[in-house]
Amino acid sequence: SKYKVGYFVGSLSSTSINRLLAQALVRLAPPELELSEIPIKDLPLYSQDYDADFPPVARTLKKSIAEVDAILFVTPEFNRSIPGGLKNAIDWASRPWGKNSLARKPTAVIGASPGSIGTALAQQSLRGVLCFCNAPLMNTVEAYIQFKPGLISADGQVTDPSTADFLRNYMNEFHAFIVRVLTVLPRTP
Ligand code: FNR
Repeated sequence: SKYKVGYFVGSLSSTSINRLLAQALVRLAPPELELSEIPIKDLPLYSQDYDADFPPVARTLKKSIAEVDAILFVTPEFNRSIPGGLKNAIDWASRPWGKNSLARKPTAVIGASPGSIGTALAQQSLRGVLCFCNAPLMNTVEAYIQFKPGLISADGQVTDPSTADFLRNYMNEFHAFIVRVLTVLPRTP
């Protein structure tokens, strides 16, 4: 059967290499996965003051998460952690108390950086956050993508065959993980 996967891009940059990576993953995903972006850029900074009455943009975020079977995080590393915009989106999604949208939602993390550790520390930091949010998280395959100019074309084609194979396998593994999690957990929490 088909599974809906929402993806977050942790970057707000108009020239984001992580959005490019996300586009490549959409192309390389197995046919069972239907990917769509869940946008985060218009969310205000979260405050508990909003808990009594979430603004429409935050309601839309939570509805978008509820409507998908799984979430993929495609994120840069900022100062050895995740960008504030992505953390803000997760904080919104996790609230109000008792209505955590990420609970029991299968997730995976991936990211690209020009640096040689390829967002490893951002991903480790994100894993801790998702763990606390009670989101089942794919342990392996890990994917730390060192981005070199031209690795992914403007229309999302991966130019290096071994990287394409690696990313295709990553998405196949994520599909298998989603199937495993949804076998034991309800599809809509
Ligand atoms: C960075 N960059 C970066 N890279 C990295 O590998 N580790 C890091 O800790 C940081 N820190 C960092 C902080 C801030 C504020 C910026 C703007 C950038 C570089 C970063 O990987 C590069 O700008 C990427 O292009 C960001 O990803 P997007 O926005 O292109 O997807």
